[in-house]
Amino acid sequence: MKTAIIVHSFTGNTLSVAEKLKDTLEKRGVNVYLEKIEPTGGENRNEVDPARISFQSRIDLTEFDNVVIAGPVRGFSMSPVLKAYFDQGSFKNRKVYLFVTHFFPFAFMGGKSAISQMKKFVEQREGIVLNSRIIDWKSPSRESEIRSLVDQFSKEIQ
Ligand SMILES: Cc1cc2nc3c(=O)[nH]c(=O)nc-3n(C[C@H](O)[C@H](O)[C@H](O)COP(=O)(O)O)c2cc1C
Repeated sequence: MKTAIIVHSFTGNTLSVAEKLKDTLEKRGVNVYLEKIEPTGGENRNEVDPARISFQSRIDLTEFDNVVIAGPVRGFSMSPVLKAYFDQGSFKNRKVYLFVTHFFPFAFMGGKSAISQMKKFVEQREGIVLNSRIIDWKSPSRESEIRSLVDQFSKEIQ
């Protein structure tokens, strides 16, 4: 069984969580491929139109049983970079896990709406979303939220 972790991260918050998840999964014997996606020519954080964001290449998801998709909340929404990366793809029969990081200390300040958009996005492309989490970066309980995410996802992903 192979797991892909596809992460969009500009300032490194989301990537740091993704790397912890990768390390824990690998310790449990899971075969993990992590990719930090980068738009061609670098990222313009003001670009909100996925049609104007392109990539040199994209991974072939058919090689993976599980896919973890992670990114920052952008304007109470799913990151346009993740949207652009997966827009033309299919998650058919893939087990999908989602997480976002966001700046504000409460999930209702963007995390919840972004996750619900991501869930819909994946399901429209025939993926099966099994779990999702929101990390509130400014919350005093951030580190325990991260540990809980890593523990739970790594128990579920084989
Ligand atoms: C253009 C832009 C829009 C953002 N919108 C939100 C938002 O709606 N809610 C929120 O809590 N954080 C928002 N943030 C903050 C990021 O989601 C947060 O800092 C995140 O942890 C960054 O992740 P990264 O370091 O992996 O890029 C925004 C950041 C940027 C640059």
